[in-house]
Amino acid sequence: MEASIQEYRKKMKKKLSETRYEHSLSVSFTCICLAMRYGYPLDKAEIAGLLHDCAKCYGDEELIRRCEKHGIPLSRAEIDAPAVLHAKYGAWLAREHYGIQDEEILCAIACHTTGKPDMGLLDKILYVADYIEVRRFKAGHLPEMRRLAFEDLDEAVYQIVKSTLEYLAQRGCSVDPMTQETYDYLEERRKTHE
Ligand SMILES: [Fe+2]
Ligand SMILES: [Fe+2]
Repeated sequence: MEASIQEYRKKMKKKLSETRYEHSLSVSFTCICLAMRYGYPLDKAEIAGLLHDCAKCYGDEELIRRCEKHGIPLSRAEIDAPAVLHAKYGAWLAREHYGIQDEEILCAIACHTTGKPDMGLLDKILYVADYIEVRRFKAGHLPEMRRLAFEDLDEAVYQIVKSTLEYLAQRGCSVDPMTQETYDYLEERRKTHE
């Protein structure tokens, strides 16, 4: 790793709002706990959690502008519903500005809002930690998801994707195709394992 965790924290504290920084710390600590439970390197989990929202300080238009400027390809769906773009641009920022070279960390940051089919262990840890961290209070079924996260990580990922899709449908929000793809993949896998 290029820098120490303290240096990453200092940078993030300067960039993010107080609430977003608190969220990042909580996600980081939750990632550590899940990494302990499922046998993943704690230092990598800690960094992924801390940096996952490093691009959350930019608005939608700014994110699109920055992606175009740096030649990061965007799909039509991402331009139409840019709420998920901070993950993609965040992975770029983590590599270019925070010096992260570890592909597993970068991949986990890139898919932390939508998930993706066939997620790796760190992808799952970060995805779940982002949902269950201690400062969250609005997300659905929180006590159950927090318990499930430490009992069965795959089931927790599935339930969170499902609950996210239900929430978006209730509010009439558009769904990023990757979230749907993740759900379809997990649903199919459950069927074949029954
Ligand atoms: Fe995020
Ligand atoms: Fe987050």
